[in-house]
Amino acid sequence: MEMPKLPVAGVRHLITIGSGKGGVGKTTVTVNVALALRALGHKVGLLDADVYGPNVPRMLGANEAPRANGDRIRPIEAHGLKVMSMGFLNPGDKPVIWRGPMLHSVMQQFVRNVEWGELDYLLVDLPPGTGDVVLSLAQSTPITGAIVVTTPSEVALEDARKAVHMFRQLHVGMLGLIENMSYLLAPKSGERIDVFGQGGGKRTAQEMGIPFLGELPLVPEIREGGDNGRPMALAGAEAAGAKPIFELARTVIDRAAQAAAIKGPSIAVED
Ligand SMILES: Nc1ncnc2c1ncn2[C@@H]1O[C@H](COP(=O)(O)OP(=O)(O)O)[C@@H](O)[C@H]1O
Ligand SMILES: [Mg+2]
Repeated sequence: MEMPKLPVAGVRHLITIGSGKGGVGKTTVTVNVALALRALGHKVGLLDADVYGPNVPRMLGANEAPRANGDRIRPIEAHGLKVMSMGFLNPGDKPVIWRGPMLHSVMQQFVRNVEWGELDYLLVDLPPGTGDVVLSLAQSTPITGAIVVTTPSEVALEDARKAVHMFRQLHVGMLGLIENMSYLLAPKSGERIDVFGQGGGKRTAQEMGIPFLGELPLVPEIREGGDNGRPMALAGAEAAGAKPIFELARTVIDRAAQAAAIKGPSIAVED
């Protein structure tokens, strides 16, 4: 029997960002889209649910320890986002090694015991693959929709298809597929180089009957922005390098509104 799902109080849209494979740019996309949503005037939270490889603190240049408020945890504020990450609680290079039940309880604490406040969007950066974290979240909490990030390479697409199937099995609606590292513009000639192949994301989305949300090119500045805690999106909607990120953010806004309209209000109404 399915347990009733409890919405996160004050959060309008909860969106998970997953991938089959690691290293496809899931965290990069999540952090940048979150900042773009914020720049477009929305209240945004970012939950780093990649407990094995929590990269969100570095990408946002945030390394404070969260403070408790009674039995609740205050999220860290970074570039106008509310952020929670295992990286704040376990800084440094030592890994956390946890079994399923502990992952479940950490996820529940991150979702329920963090003072997220009023948010238009809570983006959840999932660990790669199909594991306990996503299971815990999907079974306990209504999700507006899932985004799957992939590169155009066949091995990434193969794993992305698995991720889509997993969300289907968990009855989580798909917001759509994002193709990252779609192409590289050669610095001198401006020639487009399809490092990981071409068109795979769009084709896969079509084959699977899910929306294609857009593509993000492979750009050195995006990598640098992630490494130094100043993500590309901070350059603003008009900066050339940030344009595709803001386009993605606008598409996410539209798709989330459509998904919510189909499902009805996420707040349970008693009758
Ligand atoms: N569009 C991009 N252009 C340039 N570098 C990118 C891009 N997307 C991701 N990267 C870089 O690729 C690496 C992996 O990205 P990351 O977001 O950590 O992937 P994941 O979260 O899927 O494991 C990082 O060094 C990141 O800066
Ligand atoms: Mg990551």
